[in-house]
Amino acid sequence: MDEIRAAAEALRHGNLVAFPTETVFGLGADATSSSAVAKIYEAKGRPADHPLIVHVSSLEAAAKWAKHLPDYALDLAAEFWPGPLTLILPRSELAGDFVTGGQDTVGVRVPSHPTALALLREFEALGGQGVAAPSANRFGRVSPTSRADVQRDLGDRLSPNDIILDGEPPKVGVESTIVDCTGDVPAILRPGYVTAEMIADCTGLPLGGNDGEKRFSGSMKSHYAPTARVQIDGTPNLGDGLIALADYPTPVGVHRIAAPNNLDEFAADLYRALHTVDQLGLQRVVIVAPKGGGLAVAIRDRITKAAHRD
Ligand code: TXA
Ligand code: MG
Repeated sequence: MDEIRAAAEALRHGNLVAFPTETVFGLGADATSSSAVAKIYEAKGRPADHPLIVHVSSLEAAAKWAKHLPDYALDLAAEFWPGPLTLILPRSELAGDFVTGGQDTVGVRVPSHPTALALLREFEALGGQGVAAPSANRFGRVSPTSRADVQRDLGDRLSPNDIILDGEPPKVGVESTIVDCTGDVPAILRPGYVTAEMIADCTGLPLGGNDGEKRFSGSMKSHYAPTARVQIDGTPNLGDGLIALADYPTPVGVHRIAAPNNLDEFAADLYRALHTVDQLGLQRVVIVAPKGGGLAVAIRDRITKAAHRD
């Protein structure tokens, strides 16, 4: 618990704390401090107009960042928080331009990972209001799912007072579902573990947009990309890596990087597998994309981004 306390104090002093969540590791800073948040952009090499998600420990704490929450957003929070869901809401005065990228909305999330929740509670007990945290990777790279990933990617960009927390590995493995709650009905901006079907069921509303396959403005085509070339659905050649569901056979001479048994395992393994491909120094990895709806939508979204080259 001392480690959590020290991390919460580091945040209060304007330092950075990387921490595990159930999706991926985040790189956190005091969301009310422009100088602390500036350190995130610097470490990641991320353009300053990209908005950040504010992490809090409860709906009550989240409500302070929003001007108001529509009823369907309250339903979603009650059902899926703590958990891998981010709500985009009209912002309150608490949310500065340096967090929202100058937009009049703010993204908020209550994560369920025990280390993340403990950190947020401790930070709030010390008077903090929320922790701004993007994924703890350099801009454009694959999101980290272990402390070692963060250390490798960002270690030399952190200062001695910054902290990287350890904890149980992320169970979900891909970033949170982002739902725009500023319209009459919810719209998925980024697909994730909380699926379109779950959101429609929970709210009883039709979804705006096109169920998360839409690419929203500001999001990049090339993202989550490893150094190796990613080929979707091709035939793996000698020396290539292969990521596919377990029932897909491994040709002779091909490195089987992951063989998940189902979609949950696919999502949880995907980024770890992409990091492994790079650590092995492979030139190319073939990913056989899972078909259908539900979590397969989020997996295909991340694979497509990993495969894209500008
Ligand atoms: O699972 C997650 O969401 C992880 C963990 C650490 O919580 N965080 C994460 O953060 O994925 P990041 O910064 O890598 O991705 C946040 C996404 C960005 O695409 C950003 O554009 C979008 O959230 N976003 C944040 N605030 C927004 C806003 N006000 N309006 C629209 N999009 C927003
Ligand atoms: Mg990211």
